Amino acid sequence: MSRYAVFGNPIAHSKSPLIHRSFAEQLKDSLSYEARLAPVDDFAAGWAEFVAEGGQGANVTMPFKEQAFRLVDVLSPRARRAGAVNTLMLGKTGQLYGDTTDGVGLTRDLERLEAPLTGARILILGAGGAVRGVLEPLLAKQPAALVIANRTAAKASALVEDFADLAGQGCLLSGGSYAAIEGQFDLVINGTSASLGGELPPLPDSLFSPQALAYDMMYAAEPTVFMRWASERGARVEDGLGMLVEQAAESYFLWRHKRPETGPVADMLRRMLAEG
Ligand code: ATR
Repeated sequence: MSRYAVFGNPIAHSKSPLIHRSFAEQLKDSLSYEARLAPVDDFAAGWAEFVAEGGQGANVTMPFKEQAFRLVDVLSPRARRAGAVNTLMLGKTGQLYGDTTDGVGLTRDLERLEAPLTGARILILGAGGAVRGVLEPLLAKQPAALVIANRTAAKASALVEDFADLAGQGCLLSGGSYAAIEGQFDLVINGTSASLGGELPPLPDSLFSPQALAYDMMYAAEPTVFMRWASERGARVEDGLGMLVEQAAESYFLWRHKRPETGPVADMLRRMLAEG
């Protein structure tokens, strides 16, 4: 039986085993998928142990996405851009292949939600690894404007420089501080980790265009502080649970060459979250 796993630290609360086992059941696919803890500073040791036990592929979550990036023999172009790897695959000749499905997970979920993308004005909050990982597929949708706002403005500017070549002619890519945000947006994506601490970046009140979507890449049983704030200002709000399921489906496809249906699995997770 093919063996897969998710690596993280901590990892006990990961939803990935449940998601991938549900995909396998749906597709009548025979595989095992487990959660594995690796030492914070030695992901390579954890991976080697898994391979010795017959492991063929894995997902990688916090804090190992950069360590996995450095470990692989072959990087996909999108993982190279993202500077991170969330999906590992062992090739037939033993070569280790690394990809990232986070960005495409976000854009798939946004498409499912019929979010404004092509020709839209998009604002993304944050400039850390999570945001870097989604910029390429977002830019590929050819928005009219993509603004990156961050507490540390220099990090937003650095991202703009790194991705400028992917912003097509019609797209204005810019970045800076929260105070520098100007105008209204059709889609506002929170990619900061501020929600985790119940905090909200300082945002102008008149941020949303009519029918705007506010999307938090985080998710929780309750709407995040960003979602509550956005909802009070008239935006439609969504959390990142759909992105989690979509990135998993894309990893599954890379390993198994079969595409699971994501809707029923997302519905199951939502029910479980609500039930605590
Ligand atoms: P990740 O991989 O989740 O992106 P990260 O690289 O540490 O993690 O980035 C965290 C992001 O959340 C950064 O954009 C960070 O802003 P800074 O670059 O200025 O540190 C942002 N962030 C974290 N806590 C925040 C808060 N309380 N208010 C605003 N932004 C916050």
